[in-house]
Amino acid sequence: MKQVSPAANWTLTPEEYFPGGALGPSDSVIRSANGAIISKSGGAYLHTVQGDTYLDFVMGGSALILGHCHPDVTSAVSQHVPKGTHYYQIMHEPAVRFAAALKETIPCAEKLIFTSTGSDAISQALRIARAATGREEILRFEGAYHGTSEVALVAMQSSGNATPEQADTAGVPVASAKLVRAFSYGDLHDVAAVLAAHSETIAAVLVDPVQRWCKPDGAFLKGLRELCTRYGVVLIFDEVVSGYRLQLDGAQGFFDVQPDLAAYGKIIGGGLPIGVVAGRAAIMDVANAMTRHGTGLVTTTGTFNGNALACVAGLATVEALLDDQIYARLSRLGQITRDRLQETFDRHGIQAAVGGIESFWQVHFAESEPRNYAEVLRTDRERAKRMDAELLRRGIFVLPGGRRSLSTAHTEDDIEHFIGVVDKMCEDGKC
Ligand SMILES: Cc1ncc(COP(=O)(O)O)c(C=O)c1O
Repeated sequence: MKQVSPAANWTLTPEEYFPGGALGPSDSVIRSANGAIISKSGGAYLHTVQGDTYLDFVMGGSALILGHCHPDVTSAVSQHVPKGTHYYQIMHEPAVRFAAALKETIPCAEKLIFTSTGSDAISQALRIARAATGREEILRFEGAYHGTSEVALVAMQSSGNATPEQADTAGVPVASAKLVRAFSYGDLHDVAAVLAAHSETIAAVLVDPVQRWCKPDGAFLKGLRELCTRYGVVLIFDEVVSGYRLQLDGAQGFFDVQPDLAAYGKIIGGGLPIGVVAGRAAIMDVANAMTRHGTGLVTTTGTFNGNALACVAGLATVEALLDDQIYARLSRLGQITRDRLQETFDRHGIQAAVGGIESFWQVHFAESEPRNYAEVLRTDRERAKRMDAELLRRGIFVLPGGRRSLSTAHTEDDIEHFIGVVDKMCEDGKC
């Protein structure tokens, strides 16, 4: 065995340990902007080993709707730690209690399957849809991010390519990519035409109801529901971001559309890793190991699926979100943020469309908020990235080009501080 250096020599130098010195593509931007390394967080703020403090609008990739270290969540987790952190594939109390809370609050949840991440939940939902229909093709929308499964990485970035043969990432086989048909978000006409011609090969329509940079379209979601019902195709909502974010019953409640399956992650882990597939019992039954065996069964095991601490944190989060005032307050703060930002850009004569919904906000350097990915590509994304890098340098934590999330820990004073920073940046010609 090679000589192991003493622990005292293990240094805080990410470039020695990770490809590109980063935890992933988003982090690589931060590494090049100022190399921040987080030491701790609290409320709406992040603190770094370098001694800097950031007002956080990333909020754990939109997972931390109650802010960092919410006392209900940290206390539920610390109380459970002495009872065990992880049990592995045996039914446990936190899993059942959490499942009850999820079933109460997710409209389509007749049955639930725990996974460990949102990506896992999407992969499992797709596999369940394929097993339940006996079909293989998946229909999805350009520019949506659905995690890291092979299907999810086809047409994540491309546009105007209805039958892509290549994924947007290296390492995905052409054979997998060929099973995906991608459409423009909002384009019901093309989806209807393809379903009419090929429904016997299409297992599922996968859609994020609040797709990244696009303006959400409730009528489109309703249209997809009707088409999927007509052609016996499984409608899957990716509620990894919208779930418990728009309102307690997520996009399903907000847009009043019920999918057959929905994938969750982020918020429902209360800051710990978890994912869930929720859906109609008749479809979810393909994962019922009591009645199905061998190749008739969709295997959904995973060492950390339904991890006890994640269930405890998720349950504490959902319980806190039952407070009626929370979503009203988040919605108001979102509106204030968007209005103040738009007013600031307008005052400086900068053409920008501030978008977002409920507790999201986003800046597009364009005349109006894009409705689909082709329109997203026509916005000035380089300018947006430059602005975001400058925000990072001025103590505002955003991921370049990303959507920003508020939490119950953000205050109107935080927003005023942020607007002051943007105002000064506009003055300095940095927006
Ligand atoms: C809409 C959406 N779906 C799925 C995922 C994947 O979730 P995870 O990162 O937990 O695997 C993400 C992650 O950002 C997401 O934004």
